Amino acid sequence: MDPTANLIDPMNLAESLEALRTSTISKVAEVQDLDGLATVENEAVGRESPIAAARRGLGKMPNEDRSDAGRLINEVAKQIEAIVAMRRDELQAEAQEAAITAEAIDVTVDYAEIASGRLHVIQQVTDEVCDIFVGLGYHVAEGPEAELAWYNFDALNTPLAHPARLGMDTMYVDYGDDEDGMVLRSHTSPIQARYMETNEPPVYLVAPGKAYRNDTIDASHLPVFHQIEGLAVDESITFSDLKGTLAEFARQFFGSGTRVRMRPHFFPFTEPSAELDVSCFNCDGSGSSCRVCKGVGWLEMLGCGMVDPNVFEAVGYDPDAVTGFAFGMGVERLAMVRHGIDSIRHFVDNDVRFLNQFPG
Ligand code: DAH
Repeated sequence: MDPTANLIDPMNLAESLEALRTSTISKVAEVQDLDGLATVENEAVGRESPIAAARRGLGKMPNEDRSDAGRLINEVAKQIEAIVAMRRDELQAEAQEAAITAEAIDVTVDYAEIASGRLHVIQQVTDEVCDIFVGLGYHVAEGPEAELAWYNFDALNTPLAHPARLGMDTMYVDYGDDEDGMVLRSHTSPIQARYMETNEPPVYLVAPGKAYRNDTIDASHLPVFHQIEGLAVDESITFSDLKGTLAEFARQFFGSGTRVRMRPHFFPFTEPSAELDVSCFNCDGSGSSCRVCKGVGWLEMLGCGMVDPNVFEAVGYDPDAVTGFAFGMGVERLAMVRHGIDSIRHFVDNDVRFLNQFPG
C-alpha cells in the first residue's frame, strides 16, 4: 500500500491531511489513463486509504475533538474526489477524441480525377433526330433485334424470292420453330409492322435501333449499324406530307437553308418509293470543288415512300380507310455526312481521340 496510508497522524491531523491532499493532486495531474486514475483515487480515499483509516480512528478521539476532526476529514476527502472527477472527465474526453481520429474515414479522396463518360456520337445523333420528330408530334417506339422473318420481310410485302432474304445478305438465328425462321433484323422497318399490329391509327412514330447485315466491313459498311425508322398513318396522308415532313427534318438537322429533292426508287413496303437527297450544307448545293458532296451539290440521305396497301393488310389496317408514309435513315451515314467522317470504322474503333471530338 501507498506510504501515504501511514501519513495520517491523529496527533497531527490537519497537517497529515494537507500532505495527503497535495501529494494526491500531483499524482492526479500526472496520471495518463483512467485505470491509473482509479488506482490513485483508491489509494487516497478508498476502503484501505489513509482517509478511511482516519475515519475509523475518529472513535478513539476525545469527544470534544471528534466533530472538528470529522469535518476536516470529509472536506479533504471531497476536495480529492472533486479533483479526481475533473481529471476523469478530461481523460474520457481525450480517449473519445483519440477514438474518433483513429476511426475517421476520409471521404474527400481524389474523386475529381475519375473521368466521366459521354454519349457515343451515334447515340447523340439518334437522340437529336428523335427529338426533332418528337417536336413534330411523333413518339418513339422500339422493337426486338432478333426478329421473326415474318415481321422483317413478309409483313413488309417482301416475298420469299426477294434477294434480301438470302443468307448472303441477312443473318439468320437458329432459334424457335417459326416456319419462316428468325433473323437479326436487317432494318428497323419491322417495328412499323409490330406497332401497327397492336395499335389503331392514327400512328406517328420514330423507331431507332440496331440493324444487322451480312456485310464485309469497309469504309461505308458495318455488319451492325443503326437506323431510325419513321411512320405516319392517318386518314388522308399524302406524298406532299412526306416531302414537307422530311424537308422540315432536313432544315432542323442540317441547317435552315437546306433544300431537299426526291428521286424515284424501289422498296417492297412503299409505293411509290423514293430516295431523299439534301442540298450539301458545305457548298450550299453549288458543288464547286466541294469535298463533302464530291461536286454533286446533293447528299443522299434516306429511303422513303407511301406505305404499300399490302403492308396495311398484313397488319390488319383497312387500306381504303387510311394512307401513310414511311422512311428509314442510317444513323452512321447522318453522322458521317454531318461531321465529315471518312470511314464508318471510326464509330467502332473505340479510339478516344475520335470520340472526344464529339463532347455532346
Ligand atoms: N428499310 C430500308 C432499308 O433498310 C429503309 C427504308 C426505306 C425504310 C423506305 C422505310 C421506307 O420505312 O419507307 O434500306
